[in-house]
Amino acid sequence: MLLKDIKQIFHQELDLQYGKEEVTHFFYYFVESYLGLPRFHLAIQPQWIITKEEESLFFEGLAALKLGRPIQYVLGTTSFLELTLRVNEHVLIPRPETEELVRWILKDHEGSRSKIKILDIGTGSGCIAIALAKYLPLAEVEAIDISEEALVVAKQNATKNEVTVLFKQADVRDIDIPQKEYDIIVSNPPYVLESEKVSMENHVKNAEPSRALFVPDKHPLLFYEYLAIVAQKALKKGGELYLEINQLYGKEVSDLLKEHGINDIEIRQDLHGKDRFIKGINLAQ
Ligand SMILES: C[S@@+](CC[C@H](N)C(=O)[O-])C[C@H]1O[C@@H](n2cnc3c(N)ncnc32)[C@H](O)[C@@H]1O
Repeated sequence: MLLKDIKQIFHQELDLQYGKEEVTHFFYYFVESYLGLPRFHLAIQPQWIITKEEESLFFEGLAALKLGRPIQYVLGTTSFLELTLRVNEHVLIPRPETEELVRWILKDHEGSRSKIKILDIGTGSGCIAIALAKYLPLAEVEAIDISEEALVVAKQNATKNEVTVLFKQADVRDIDIPQKEYDIIVSNPPYVLESEKVSMENHVKNAEPSRALFVPDKHPLLFYEYLAIVAQKALKKGGELYLEINQLYGKEVSDLLKEHGINDIEIRQDLHGKDRFIKGINLAQ
């Protein structure tokens, strides 16, 4: 079959669901991933023929997209700060916002010559921990998640990106908290309210793990309460806490952290101008 005919079928089948431009992107992601060919290949070889096996890959991918499966899960990979990471239905697909959170940490610590010890809580695919280990070569990075399945993916990602991260299965609500151990604690915990589900796209709310995303409306700061307790005990004096937050609760998270001795609070906005990140410093002894 001609590759250009597959492209046409993609548009016929998916344009209504995703829009023409998005479908063109999907098609070329498949071309790169399944055929190992650059995007411009079809332009210079318009009569390119693909094998029966390749054809089935495209049709399987098309069927998965029709069912609303995110492209990252269909391809099994995504990128995060120039790193390639494996993803599947057990882990959240890393978001551009989270890249911004990591960039903040990297900016604060670029050129640092001292060893720093970092803990990432709720690591998922391992994106934050792995990026920090990669770009801060002197850092010693540990990461926890409640999900064994997520940790399998995170460990594979660390190996693939040639970094060492100590991954442990643990529940942040019930962990042995080491005393004054870390220079940095970072977390992108579940923070989307159950009631926000209605306004979310189907492929997010149905495909990604609920445990990674949602908190009850009655308890929006659930994870931040535990994170504040852990940070107060486990951060060294002067140690830094960096968190991703729900845009509705910047002030509340800030107050909560202050109650736990985390001060010098700074809130930053994401690319859409929404309060999305918070940093505080543990000033308690
Ligand atoms: C929003 S996701 C973030 C994943 C990844 N850090 C990222 O930024 O893409 C939250 C993660 O917290 C984990 N998690 C949920 N409840 C937890 C708990 N009680 N203790 C530890 N991790 C938990 C989930 O399994 C999920 O991987």
